[in-house]
Amino acid sequence: MPPPLTSEAVLDHLRGVKYPGYSRDIVSFGLIKDVQIDGTRVLVRIALTTADANIPKAIQENATAVLESIPGVSEAEVNIDLSAPVSKALQADAGGLPQTKIEGVKHVIAVASGKGGVGKSTVAANLAVALRGEKSDKKVGLCDCDIYGPSVGLMFGTHERPSATEEGRIQPIRRYDLNLMSMGFLLDDTSPAILRGPMVTRYTQQFLRNVDWGELDYLILDLPPGTGDIQLTIVQTVALSGAIIVTTPQEVALIDARKAATMFEKVNVAIIGLVENMSYFVCPNDGNRYAIFGSGGGEREAARLGVSLLAQIPIEMRVRESGDQGQPITLSEPASPTAKLFQQAAQAIRNQFPT
Ligand SMILES: Nc1ncnc2c1ncn2[C@@H]1O[C@H](COP(=O)(O)OP(=O)(O)OP(=O)(O)O)[C@@H](O)[C@H]1O
Ligand SMILES: [Mg+2]
Repeated sequence: MPPPLTSEAVLDHLRGVKYPGYSRDIVSFGLIKDVQIDGTRVLVRIALTTADANIPKAIQENATAVLESIPGVSEAEVNIDLSAPVSKALQADAGGLPQTKIEGVKHVIAVASGKGGVGKSTVAANLAVALRGEKSDKKVGLCDCDIYGPSVGLMFGTHERPSATEEGRIQPIRRYDLNLMSMGFLLDDTSPAILRGPMVTRYTQQFLRNVDWGELDYLILDLPPGTGDIQLTIVQTVALSGAIIVTTPQEVALIDARKAATMFEKVNVAIIGLVENMSYFVCPNDGNRYAIFGSGGGEREAARLGVSLLAQIPIEMRVRESGDQGQPITLSEPASPTAKLFQQAAQAIRNQFPT
C-alpha cells in the first residue's frame, strides 16, 4: 500500500522539475498555484509569465511525468496559467503611441532600476563598452538621463562639455569610440533645483530630440533611479527596443525592480533581462564566494518575470575603482572575469538585437 497522497508529497515530487534554463525548481520559484487530490487523481495548476512557448510545454511535460511516477497516482493533470510579458508585437499593435524613433539609431535600450545605488550607471557604462566590442565593431552611445546626479562624465573621465551647432543640435562627446551624453551636461550647478514636474518632461523631450547621436547600432539610456514621472516620460518619449533592469539580490531592491518591470509593461516596452549586481564577493584571501546580499534573488525574479538573467556581477573593489578612475572595468581590464561577464551579457543583447 503506497502512503496516502498529500499536497506536501506532491510538492516534494514537483521539486524535481527544473525551470528550463535554470538550476532552480518550479516549486521554489513559487510557480505552483494549486494542488488538488481526488482519490488517485492529482490536479496541479502552475502560473507562468513567459513569451517563450517552449517553457510551458517543457514544464507541463516534465511535471506530468513526475506526477505520474508517484506511487498511488493513477492520473495527473497539469494546467498552466500563461500570461505573456508585454512584447514588441503588442507594442506594434498599440500603434500610434507618441514614441519617437531616434534618427540614425538602430536600437535604444534603457537601463533601469527601481532602487537607487544598485549599480545602474556602472552596469550601463560597462555594457556600452562591451556592446561596442574590443575592436569597436559596433557604434554605441551612452546617455545618462539623470539630470540630478549625472555620472557618465565621471565614469569615462571627462569634464568636457558638449558643443552645439548653430541650429541648436547638440554634439555628443567622443570618448573611447563611444558617443557620450548626459542630460546634466547642459545644466549649470544651480539649475537642477528649478527643474520640476512638467519642466523636466519638456526638457527631457527636447533634449533627446536635439542631440546629434549619429549613426548608432545601440544607444544605452541610463535612467535615473525610481519609477516616477521622469522615468515614465523617458520611456514614453523614445521608441525603446527593450529595457534592462538592474537589481541587487536583496528583497528591497527586488521589490523596486518589480516596480520598474511594471512600469515598462504599462508602456509596452519588452524587458530584455535582469542584471544582478553585487551578487557575491570573492574573497581575495581564500577565493571563497560570499553572498553578501543573499543569493538567488535575481534568478527568482527573472524567472517570475519570464526574462533571462543576463549577468551576475560580483561586488569587487576594481569595479568601483575603475569607474571612479574614468575607465569602466571592461575598458581597463577587458580580460578580467568580471569584464567577461559584461561581455557575455552584451553578446546576448547583440544576438537578440542584431544590427
Ligand atoms: N559590482 C560592484 N562592485 C563594487 N562597487 C560597485 C559595483 N557596482 C557599483 N559599484 C559602486 O557602487 C556605487 C553606486 O553605483 P552606481 O553609481 O553605478 O549606481 P546607480 O544605481 O547608478 O546609482 P544612482 O541610483 O545614484 O544612479 C558606485 O560607487 C559604484 O562604483
Ligand atoms: Mg546612476
